[in-house]
Amino acid sequence: MKKKVSIVGAGNVGATTAQLVVQSGIADVVLFDVVEGIPQGKALDMAEACPLWNSSSTIKGTNDYSETSGSDVIVITAGLARKPGMSRSDLLHANTNIVKGVCYEIAETSPHAILIVVTNPMDVMAQLAWKTTEFSCKRVMGMGGILDASRLAAFVSWELDVSPEDVEALVLGGHGDEMVPFPRFTTVKGIPLTELFPKRKIDSLIERTRNGGAEIVAFLKSGSAYYAPAASTFQMVKSILLDEKRMLPCTAYLNGEYGIKDIYAGVPVILGKEGVEKIVEVKLTREEKAQFRRSCESVRKLLKQLSI
Ligand code: NAI
Ligand code: 2OP
Repeated sequence: MKKKVSIVGAGNVGATTAQLVVQSGIADVVLFDVVEGIPQGKALDMAEACPLWNSSSTIKGTNDYSETSGSDVIVITAGLARKPGMSRSDLLHANTNIVKGVCYEIAETSPHAILIVVTNPMDVMAQLAWKTTEFSCKRVMGMGGILDASRLAAFVSWELDVSPEDVEALVLGGHGDEMVPFPRFTTVKGIPLTELFPKRKIDSLIERTRNGGAEIVAFLKSGSAYYAPAASTFQMVKSILLDEKRMLPCTAYLNGEYGIKDIYAGVPVILGKEGVEKIVEVKLTREEKAQFRRSCESVRKLLKQLSI
């Protein structure tokens, strides 16, 4: 029997993630939304593409949580997306109510699932999901660092006119304006950015990465990015379901790692069938540590507004 992935929120990120999972054939998918007809219509459309994708996965659209029961992985994309001029944190209060409601339901119907939180402000929503479900922190994580790193890798590859396959990027901290791209750990075939570009160029690549989400919102006018976010989420789903043990930058619960306690923030983790199997700690310079701490503080400030 195939594994079961439920995706809550059948909007842009949710439906595109569903497509990637179904197309890959690695799991059956349930696509849930509160809006009647949307998950059913999108799921039927994808199911009719399965013969063309040579996929034996099934997909079902629903407004009923009982259909998601017994999921192995649940991806939460339910909530509002950014509009031009909005930051991720402007979504805090509206999305808190939505994510809380979703978590009560899934904790009942899929008590053993691994949760991947995508809804923004994602680090805070991941912590909210962990508190609300009372799942082990190993089974609750957020997607942000893979997306931010992929953006940085794309910008580097365009700048050098080199294949993106040869670029490995690392972005840690909160998935917000204070995220921390690491030039020292961003490499092209093993050569760090610091050896490839002058400081001014590195600063502009970092700035574009931090502004990557807003750059797309400014083009789209309504709604935010979803192809790269869905591809990033799929990478996490796949590493968990296939127990690939990929080392990926994900938002995880920090209990003293990197000198930070009791918040969710982006760090390199090993992702496998148990969820976050390990948080990998790398030695940071004093300046890198300060940036990471600042980024975590901005997550903590948002958490305080919710008092969780
Ligand atoms: P969207 O507006 O296309 O889809 C959101 C969906 O959630 C809608 O279909 C809506 O009906 C549904 N929804 C609302 N309340 C719900 C509830 N209580 N239960 C179930 N479904 C509900 O938005 P999009 O582009 O898919 O983005 C979703 C969220 O993901 C946003 O908060 C966005 O900011 C965030 N995001 C986070 C990223 C990250 O890197 N962590 C990247 C991209 C988006
Ligand atoms: C992004 O970075 C909106 O967080 C989302 O595109």
